[in-house]
Amino acid sequence: MAEYKTIPVSDDLASNAWADDALYRKMYQESVINPEGFWREHGERIHWFKPYTRVKDVSYDDHRIEIKWFQDGTTNVSWNCLDRHLEEKGDQVAIYWEGDNPKHSSQISYRELHERVCRFANVLKSQGVRRGDVIAVYMPMVVEASIAMLACTRIGAIHSVIFAGFSPEAVAGRVIDSHAKILITADEGVRGGKTIPLKANVDEALTHTGVKSIEKVIVFQKTGNRIAWYKHRDIWWHELEPLASPHCEAREMDAESPLFILYTSGSTGKPKGVLHTTGGYLVYASMTHQYVFNYKDGDVYWCNADVGWITGHSYVVYGPLCNGATIVMHEGLPNYPSVSRISEIVDKYQINTLYTAPTAIRALMAHGQDVIKNTNRTSLKLLGSVGEPINPEAWMWYRKTIGQDKCPVVDTWWQTETGGIMITPLPGATPLKPGSATRPFFGVLPAIVDGLGNIQEGPCEGNLVMIDSWPGQARTVYGNHDRFVHTYFSKFKGMYFTGDGARRDEDGYYWITGRVDDVLNVAGHRMGTAEIESAMVSHSHVAEAAVVGYPHEIKGQGIYVYVTLNKGVSYSEELAGELRDWVRREIGPIATPDIIQNAPGLPKTRSGKIMRRILRQIAAGEFENLGDTSTLADPSVIDQLIDNREAAG
Ligand code: WT7
Repeated sequence: MAEYKTIPVSDDLASNAWADDALYRKMYQESVINPEGFWREHGERIHWFKPYTRVKDVSYDDHRIEIKWFQDGTTNVSWNCLDRHLEEKGDQVAIYWEGDNPKHSSQISYRELHERVCRFANVLKSQGVRRGDVIAVYMPMVVEASIAMLACTRIGAIHSVIFAGFSPEAVAGRVIDSHAKILITADEGVRGGKTIPLKANVDEALTHTGVKSIEKVIVFQKTGNRIAWYKHRDIWWHELEPLASPHCEAREMDAESPLFILYTSGSTGKPKGVLHTTGGYLVYASMTHQYVFNYKDGDVYWCNADVGWITGHSYVVYGPLCNGATIVMHEGLPNYPSVSRISEIVDKYQINTLYTAPTAIRALMAHGQDVIKNTNRTSLKLLGSVGEPINPEAWMWYRKTIGQDKCPVVDTWWQTETGGIMITPLPGATPLKPGSATRPFFGVLPAIVDGLGNIQEGPCEGNLVMIDSWPGQARTVYGNHDRFVHTYFSKFKGMYFTGDGARRDEDGYYWITGRVDDVLNVAGHRMGTAEIESAMVSHSHVAEAAVVGYPHEIKGQGIYVYVTLNKGVSYSEELAGELRDWVRREIGPIATPDIIQNAPGLPKTRSGKIMRRILRQIAAGEFENLGDTSTLADPSVIDQLIDNREAAG
């Protein structure tokens, strides 16, 4: 890895930021020495109907994992994101919406957004939605996706957004697990000039035998193309919204009432429904949005994540709207219709902050100067990165080419489970090292532990844990607290285990090295190897499958599948293509295997455990130093795997 020089903070930036280095250090110290006092003060950044008296009630104790913040306060997320701004910012644009087709765009003010959210909340009520009900949202990137989310929060319903790229099978699994009562979707989505049959996917998902909870499907009309219609169940959004009253009081919710469920992949089993709650989440999302992006009133802010992921929840919708920002929401792909689309959107809306993923940056980087053709991007003040480790070369390119060498780049490390950004530079405070997520945010206590859970001091490398809670932390796995405890608190007692590895350098900066469990990060999308393996073996020709990640230039990691076929089935390119399509249909396009290798035998120990370390090395083309293979039941499979590696390409 090339080493780059540390980039100091300019004086200008330091004096225009929320915190300079001295203030960061002071606030950070306070936040970890006296978290009660720190959060008692900063919790007040949102509006509470009933103020809290208690701040932090957390137990990381082995026998009782319990996380509560501001628990006796009451508030409402939609009220904080909308009503609170009406007086001063009612006419300010809340959302600039930019279509997949550059000719399509719209804008909506805070006042208009408030009215539409109220109407839609009344629509939900008219369909029998009550406090605590779960609403599945399977929507493209349209303004109505955020309206649906905010309307749920207004009446205390729990949303469960399902990324619109997921398959019917994946939708069914999430609906079954969450017992969703209503599903909100669109006739079709549009991305990169192609339509995505969302309603047809829903129809198929709901034929799944396990799906019993859905009473109604509310359909937003996006393309107007013909779709199947089930009268007893389907309702058009546009027929109900105008009939509903524009007045809807925001329900007073307890700080700890469930806000949303978001499914994410782990190393074993099906995706988990991570649960976030109301007060602490909003305090944390809005505070990180303000400090990390140095957000100031009047800024135009664009995070191009999809609302189907946590980044879309915290940094498209809740954090920025809570802060009264003008946000940009883009329906389509960053390279459509041309590779200069991102730059064009920046110029069109005079965007000040751009927050995107390393995979997009690397994909653009391959196109050189075409990416900025006929644009000037002079409005940009800050660039952000999220989702996977960013290599220093891509970091430098982002800064130089998109940001003209004048914007700080904040590489933000966090997870679905953390609710908000955890390790990140603060512009104005943190000297930048390309490739490092740098230092912890206020209230965040990271540590690096060895395999036994011993905390390491000074420069070191190991497993990344958090030794205390922060307000944005997930509270549980929906309906399965044992799984929550087991996944995050059992490996290292008394600490939250992130699943990531990290290095800490002599300046105390953190460098995330990637997952240390069987979770892949493909183009910023998190995927469990077990999920892909289970999709593979559900194909009638497959006896066994082992999935590993391998280094991929654009996506960071690619999906490499070793497949053992059933007796009598012979391997062919055609079959490999069929298997690729199979996984794509079972999970969704993001899970499509990059490479499939025929593996008549897999490297197993005598007790039958697959040695993934060896498979990872072979996938990466590292055939030397395969380490100790003497514990393998049949060491001869190694040569065969290496021979077949070439054929897999
Ligand atoms: C995993 C979490 C957080 C929003 C998007 C992903 C990886 C995330 C970084 C970063 C290195 C990163 C980690 C983490 N990750 N951001 N800046 N540097 N790695 O959320 O789907 O829950 O995935 O993404 O491996 O554990 P997610």
